[in-house]
Amino acid sequence: MKLKKNILCIGAGYVGAPTMAMIACKCPDYKVTVVDINAARIDAWNSDRLPIYEPGLEEIIGKTRGKNLFFSRDIEEGIRQNDIIFVSVNTPTKTFGTGAGMAADLQYVEKTARQILEYSESSKIVIEKSTLPVKTAQAMERILSSGKGNITFEVLSNPEFMAEGTAISDLEHPDRVLIGSHETPEGLKARARLVDIYARWVAPEKILTTNLWSSELSKLVANAFLAQRVSSINSVSALCEKTDANISEVARAVGLDSRIGAKFLKAGVGFGGSCFKKDILNLVYLCQYYGLPEVADYWESVVKINEYQQDRFIANILGSMFSTLAGKKIGILGFAFKADTGDTRESPAIYITRKLLSEHAHVVISDPKALENAMIDLACEEGQISYVEDPYRAAAGCHALAIMTDWEIYRKLDYRRIYKSMVKPAFIFDGRNIVDHRKCFEIGFNVYPIGKPALCHF
Ligand code: NAD
Ligand code: UDX
Repeated sequence: MKLKKNILCIGAGYVGAPTMAMIACKCPDYKVTVVDINAARIDAWNSDRLPIYEPGLEEIIGKTRGKNLFFSRDIEEGIRQNDIIFVSVNTPTKTFGTGAGMAADLQYVEKTARQILEYSESSKIVIEKSTLPVKTAQAMERILSSGKGNITFEVLSNPEFMAEGTAISDLEHPDRVLIGSHETPEGLKARARLVDIYARWVAPEKILTTNLWSSELSKLVANAFLAQRVSSINSVSALCEKTDANISEVARAVGLDSRIGAKFLKAGVGFGGSCFKKDILNLVYLCQYYGLPEVADYWESVVKINEYQQDRFIANILGSMFSTLAGKKIGILGFAFKADTGDTRESPAIYITRKLLSEHAHVVISDPKALENAMIDLACEEGQISYVEDPYRAAAGCHALAIMTDWEIYRKLDYRRIYKSMVKPAFIFDGRNIVDHRKCFEIGFNVYPIGKPALCHF
């Protein structure tokens, strides 16, 4: 098919690359180019070993790469040749200066806007795909309009709601696509061009259009609401452990209320991932900035409960293992922040491992997809750490296992075989409530779930 139209995406990360692969797949008449300053990442996207693991990603890249999907290091050429540009660069929490530890670090977004301005030879639609604080489009516009000549830029907001591990199906069947624009003739015209792209595979009633600021803010709020549900159920798990109530039963009873719904009510060791904490803190910072301290405190408590949940988990390990972990071998089953991804950003496993090392435990880390990232995360840690992909080999000789990721394989392990290979008394701390606790107890383990009575032999 002849490629009649062009799209560029700046940023070939967890969002940029899968999103563009889906657009390329659904719009075969578009030439989609993804560029990045990270040359190694672009090379990996062009190789047989993709830089991220995501179910279904290899297949969709296989169908499109080299046909109408291209990964390139040439940002300048990319900007020159494309008039629709998605910006999907990272927006981490600021680590320095005003707002450190809370505000979004917008340096990458700003650099991208300056690059677009510098290399553009024609008017463009610039689409914010990154998650940004409300009003960022205004800053983008100011930079983009500081140039010369009669080139114009129309900024749209099109936040991404996909979750890792399910990115491909989320992109193919989104609950909604959100597009924010100015309600000017130029804004509406740009918006219509973006709507046309999504309309190739998304039903019209699922394509929501709003003003720019509602769109930017909705993304932060959606993540805050999701994380708030996880913190709510985790806070209740602490009460369950004190009262012999069972968190799975409570979550089911509560979630069957159609006004509440069942999703995101799974108690665990705490939420991780590159988005929840960062985006809530960004929201907290915005509330403080706009003089709304009560609102800021409300949302900050979601992050505090998440930290509390991880501290509770560690305190539980230490308390049940006779208040000393020194010299004991603890197996960490799962290092990714959730199942079906190799991503470890903000994974609770990082914090838990650090705490175990500070108690002088020997930590054995196992994960089917995240060991490379785990090694990077823990490169500066002192203490005894081993990395063993096979869970049976990882568990052998351990005093305890801590399940950190809800990988399906951990549900199905032969825990009798594992028990035999471990030091007795053997412990399981199930940070994701995924194993059959009663069965493991009957095998001989002392079992500590989240939000349920512990099953202990002494
Ligand atoms: P990422 O770190 O995986 O990818 C960002 C990429 O942008 C990196 O490869 C980086 O090298 C590149 N980059 C930075 N500055 C650049 C520049 N000036 N020119 C070219 N490339 C540049 O990040 P991600 O997880 O893909 O997230 C991107 C954005 O999407 C963030 O704002 C994030 O909050 C948001 N988001 C992420 C998810 C998710 O699940 N990861 C979901 C929804 C939204
Ligand atoms: C999240 C949002 O879901 C997505 O819409 C947004 O675009 C990016 O941020 P992601 O972080 O990839 O996606 O995964 P998500 O499924 O939301 O899980 C986040 C964390 O919450 C994980 O650590 C997960 O284990 C935890 N979680 C989730 C729970 O502990 N319990 C739950 O019930 C659900």
